[in-house]
Amino acid sequence: MKGRFITLEGCEGVGKSTQLRLLAEYLNREGVDTVFTREPGGTPLAERIRGILLDEALVVSPYAEAELFATARRDHIDNLILPSIEAGKLVVCDRYIDSSLAYQGVARGLGIERVYEINSYARDNCMPELTIFIDMDPANSWRRQKGKEVMHDRMERESAAFHAACYRGYKEIAAREPERFALIVPERDKTATHLKIVEALKARGIV
Ligand code: TYD
Repeated sequence: MKGRFITLEGCEGVGKSTQLRLLAEYLNREGVDTVFTREPGGTPLAERIRGILLDEALVVSPYAEAELFATARRDHIDNLILPSIEAGKLVVCDRYIDSSLAYQGVARGLGIERVYEINSYARDNCMPELTIFIDMDPANSWRRQKGKEVMHDRMERESAAFHAACYRGYKEIAAREPERFALIVPERDKTATHLKIVEALKARGIV
């Protein structure tokens, strides 16, 4: 039997990393043969492109940015995601095509259709069966509530308006593909949020 592919998406500071950790612990306990990976990144080439994309010293044109994310993604698909699915594993990816649609398509203003075109290889060959979206407006993110607004990289340094546009973008994409998306409104209690995510996986027969 072939493996499966799911992705996790969300705006900055909404607890995505914590949820990934809890999910990893859960899948490990359940004995699910899982490959955890991330974008941009996941392969040596894509990790190098990540370094460029997040480098605060660089000014990158929106189209070039979208193409660099897509190039990193293509290498990731060919050298890690598809081979792992072929080997029967569950692939869990931290960010994927929907990050490009929301960040480059909507927030950078390239348009969702154009960014889909740039990502046609992923769209045609490697779409996740389930995308967990942590549905929280970055204006109310946990990080903001805690007053911990440390800006780590070139993308995080973007304005509040940029991150608000990312959130709108995600909502628009999710509305277009309701069968692929599970919208998870996070709870203050991270275990409660985790249980919602596990429910979404169970509902698809993934665990
Ligand atoms: P990262 O530190 O991995 O962010 P996070 O911890 O929030 O997941 O940095 C990745 C950044 O790149 C993040 O700001 C989202 C952005 N991004 C895009 O703009 N387009 C994309 O296609 C992907 C995968 C990420």
